[in-house]
Amino acid sequence: MLFPLLLVNLLVAGVRLEEQLIYPPQFTRERIVGGEDAPEGMAPYQISLQGAASGQHSCGGAIIEERWILTAAHCIHGKTPEAFRVLAGTQDLKKNVSRYYYVDRILEHCDYEPRKYRNDIALLHLNESIVFDNSTQPVQLSHEPLMPGDWLLLTGWGTLSLGGEVPAKLQRLEVEYVPFEECRLAHGNSSHVDIGHVCTYNDKGRGACHGDSGGPLVHNGKLVALVNWGMPCARGKPDASASIAYYHDFIRTHLSLHEAAAAAGTEELAAWRSKSHCH
Ligand SMILES: *[C@@H]1O[C@H](CO)[C@@H](O)[C@H](O)[C@H]1NC(C)=O
Ligand SMILES: *[C@@H]1O[C@H](CO)[C@@H](O)[C@H](O)[C@H]1NC(C)=O
Ligand SMILES: *[C@@H]1O[C@H](CO)[C@@H](O)[C@H](O)[C@H]1NC(C)=O
Ligand SMILES: *[C@@H]1O[C@H](CO)[C@@H](O)[C@H](O)[C@H]1NC(C)=O
Repeated sequence: MLFPLLLVNLLVAGVRLEEQLIYPPQFTRERIVGGEDAPEGMAPYQISLQGAASGQHSCGGAIIEERWILTAAHCIHGKTPEAFRVLAGTQDLKKNVSRYYYVDRILEHCDYEPRKYRNDIALLHLNESIVFDNSTQPVQLSHEPLMPGDWLLLTGWGTLSLGGEVPAKLQRLEVEYVPFEECRLAHGNSSHVDIGHVCTYNDKGRGACHGDSGGPLVHNGKLVALVNWGMPCARGKPDASASIAYYHDFIRTHLSLHEAAAAAGTEELAAWRSKSHCH
């Protein structure tokens, strides 16, 4: 709770933005602010990544196939699959209509750089297939380049105000795409903004601060990005997310390697499971 306030104090003290204020959303309690309840069925691909033991919501993510979830690398970094459970099929954390799935393999991007927030993307493989229905569906990946003036749909569970309560209901917010050059400029030419990011912006003072880390940004019904990092709320700086188009090869390579191993038999599948995916 103190952390966001601390950051505001740093800003007032004039500490250099680039050094001090860029941080991943996971380090703050503040997530979607100024959004509204998502209408039922709006984001059937949305999951809540939770601590298996605590049951606490920690990050967002998106269903892309029966057994595959995409999220941010900083959501899973340094943890084992057993640490997590995945809640799918609900937009209400308190409603008992949904179900949990369990992770048996984490594939973090090999070049994820925690301090530079680069390549902040990960795949989670589930030990059971997700049962699809009206409220549980995969989302298609977008390969289309975004254009200035495009608006994206951001969804996530997050506090509604600084240090406030986590809402039960999934929040939605429209955010505008910010081209790379403009985004980097807005962040003082920081190299923390790179071409693997999709930047988005909400009106200054409107209160949109961060989406849930790992949470989906969707354009025309297709997944375009996963929330990576942002600046303190309503300061007028774009937030940065991992671009799905940019990481297309990372995603496709691992899905096909898994598919090939599964088709080859249980031994190959076991080998896939135990093998490091970075070489
Ligand atoms: C949800 O279901 C579980 C087990 O079926 C039960 O223990 C729990 O109390 C229920 N929660 C709510 C909010 O109804
Ligand atoms: C998946 O993992 C969970 C948690 O470890 C376990 O309870 C469940 O039985 C597993 N399901 C399958 C199909 O192995
Ligand atoms: C799913 O949605 C379709 C179309 O909106 C509707 O006709 C159907 O009754 C729904 N099924 C369930 C189980 O809610
Ligand atoms: C960022 O780079 C642009 C173009 O190279 C330059 O015009 C601008 O002054 C730079 N801004 C900062 C804050 O360094």
